[in-house]
Amino acid sequence: MTRHAADQSAFEGRVSRWRPELVTCLGRVYGEDAAQEVADRLVAVARTGHRSRSPDLRELDELRQSEPEWFQRPSMIGYAAYADRFAGTLNGVGERAAYLEALGIGYLHLMPLLTPRPGPDDGGYAVQDYRSVRPDLGSVDDLRELSTALRGRGISLCLDLVLNHVAREHPWAEAARAGDEDKRAYFHVFADRETPDAYERSLPEVFPAFAPGNFTWDDDLDGWVWTTFNDYQWDVDWSNPAVLCEYADLVVSLANLGVEVLRLDAIAFLWKRLGTDCQNQPEVHDLTQALRTVARIACPAVLFKAEAIVGPSDLPAYLGIGERAGKVSDLAYHNSLMVQIWSMLASGETGLAARALQRLPQPPSTTAWVTYLRCHDDIGWAISDGDAWAAGVDPAAHRRFLSEWYSGDFPGSWARGLVFQQNLATGDRRISGSLASLAGLEVDDPGAAARILLAHAIILGFGGVPVLWMGDELGLLNDAGWADDVAHADDNRWVHRPRMPWSVGTGSVEPDQRGINAGLRDLIDVRRGLPQLHAAVPTEIWDPRDPGVLLVVRRHPAGPLLGAYNVTDQERWVAADVLAWLGLHTPGLSDAISDRAPELRDGAVPLAPYAAAWLIDTDRP
Ligand code: GLC
Repeated sequence: MTRHAADQSAFEGRVSRWRPELVTCLGRVYGEDAAQEVADRLVAVARTGHRSRSPDLRELDELRQSEPEWFQRPSMIGYAAYADRFAGTLNGVGERAAYLEALGIGYLHLMPLLTPRPGPDDGGYAVQDYRSVRPDLGSVDDLRELSTALRGRGISLCLDLVLNHVAREHPWAEAARAGDEDKRAYFHVFADRETPDAYERSLPEVFPAFAPGNFTWDDDLDGWVWTTFNDYQWDVDWSNPAVLCEYADLVVSLANLGVEVLRLDAIAFLWKRLGTDCQNQPEVHDLTQALRTVARIACPAVLFKAEAIVGPSDLPAYLGIGERAGKVSDLAYHNSLMVQIWSMLASGETGLAARALQRLPQPPSTTAWVTYLRCHDDIGWAISDGDAWAAGVDPAAHRRFLSEWYSGDFPGSWARGLVFQQNLATGDRRISGSLASLAGLEVDDPGAAARILLAHAIILGFGGVPVLWMGDELGLLNDAGWADDVAHADDNRWVHRPRMPWSVGTGSVEPDQRGINAGLRDLIDVRRGLPQLHAAVPTEIWDPRDPGVLLVVRRHPAGPLLGAYNVTDQERWVAADVLAWLGLHTPGLSDAISDRAPELRDGAVPLAPYAAAWLIDTDRP
C-alpha cells in the first residue's frame, strides 16, 4: 500500500470508529432527526480538511496516536505570551525559540494573533478574520513556518479558537447587518427588549464596568444582539448547526497550519438557556465533544484546552465526567487551584484550599489540568460558599479580604494589584497585577522571592501541565506604563502584560537578582525526573496537620511523592504520621527539590518559611 493509500484507509477507519459517537452527541443538541445529517456535514468537513493536511502533519497524527500521553509527562511545561510583547513578530518568536527550549518549554500558547477588528479588540479576542494573521505580526505562511520550527525544537504551538463570539466586523456579522437572513441566524437577535430582559434577570455581567448588560442595540440589524463581553463581540448562536460546521472547518484549518493545541476561549458561555446564568449548560459539552470528534477524525494530533473560568463544581465537566469522560477537552485551566494558591498565600491557612481541592473529582486519566498562577486575565475569587462554610470561613468576607489584600488596601499587605471591574451590585472586585507584584516583590517584602518559588512549586508538583505566564520566570513587576497606550487605558489587565526585557541585541535576558529564575529552572529540572508527576497519576490532597502546610500526595509504583508547602512566614511542620502513613519514614527519605535528606525532629520534617519539599524515598528498589 502506498503512503497515501495507507493514510486514506486510516482516515476511513477513524470515520467508522467515531461517527456513531458524533451522532449521539449531535442528537442531544439538535435532536435525533437532524443528527445524521449534521454528522454527514461534519464528516465532509473532516474529509476535505484531511485531504489538504500535509504529509509531516499526517506523520504527527500517527505519532501522537501511538503515544497519546505525550502531553502528560512530567517534562511537559507550557508558556503563554503575546507574540508582539514577547518578540515583536512571529518571526521574532521563532528567533527566540531557543530561550523557551532552554527553559524546558514543551508547549507555547501565543495569545490571539488572527486578524482582529480595527480599534478596541479585547486583546485580540474580537476576531474579524480567522483565516489571516494580524498583519503587523506576520502572515499565514509565517505562522506555518513558526509552528514547524517550534515543533523541530519539541515545542507544540497552542492558539486560541474564539468560539463564543466574533467581531461585529466579521463577514458573518457584516452580512447579517446587510440583511442576509442565513447569517442573521448565526447570532442571537431580538426585535425588542422582551426576551433580552427575560434573560437578563438571571445573567451576570462579565465586564460590568465597561460593557454593562449582555445585549447591544444595532441599527442595521434593527434589533438587540447578544453581546456577553464587549458590545463589539457578537455571541454566535450554537443552536444553529451551520455555526458548528463553520467552527469545525476552522478547527481543521488551524490544525493544518501546524497548531497542535486549541484553546477554546470562553467556552462556558456557548449555550443560552432562559432562567439560568447561561454558562456550563450540558450542550456546551456535547458541542465540544462534536468538535473534538471531528478533530479526532481529521487531525488526531490536535488537543483541546478548555478556558472555563468557572466555579469548582462546574469545572470537572470540561474534562468530561460520566459518559463524556476523556471525550471533551484534553486540558482545562485549574482555576480553582489558582485561586486557592493566592488565597493560601494571603491568609497563611490551607484549610479552605484543602477542602475545596478535595471536593474535585480526579480528572479522567487521559486528560490533565493546566496548573497556573497567572495568565493575561484578572483573578476572580471563584470560591464556593459551601467550601468556605465547610472550612469555617465566611465566603463573602473572605472574598472581600482577598480583594483588599491583593489591591494592597489591607493593613500589612505586601501585594500591589489593581481592582478590575468592581461590581457595585454584587460587591465583586477582581484583581489585575503581575505575579511578582501580587507576591510582594514590588514592595521588596523579604518573603517575596520564596513566595514566588513556593507558588511555582505548587503548580509544578500538583500534577497536570504547568503553564508559565511570560515574565513570571523573571519576576517581572507590574508595567507602570500600562495605560500609556490609549487603546489599553480603560482595561487594567494590561498592567500584567509587560514586554519581555531582552538584553539589547541578544536572545537572552538578564537573570533576576533574587534567584527566581534559577530556582524555577531547578524545579523544572527536578520535575522532569519524577514519574509521580505524570498527569495520569491521581492527586490526593491530605487533611492538613499543620494548618499552614498544604499536603499533596502522588502515589505511583515508583513510590509515593509527598508535596509539602508551607504557605506561612514562619517555620512549620510535616507531621510524622503523614510520613508513616505513606511509608516515607525510612532512612531513604529525601527532598527531591534540595536533593538532600530533610532534617527530622521527632520524626517530623521542619519546613522553613515559604518552603516547598517534594519528599520521596530514594531507597526504594
Ligand atoms: C476569555 C479571555 C479574555 C477575553 C474573553 C472574551 O475569557 O481570556 O481575555 O476578554 O474570553 O473573549
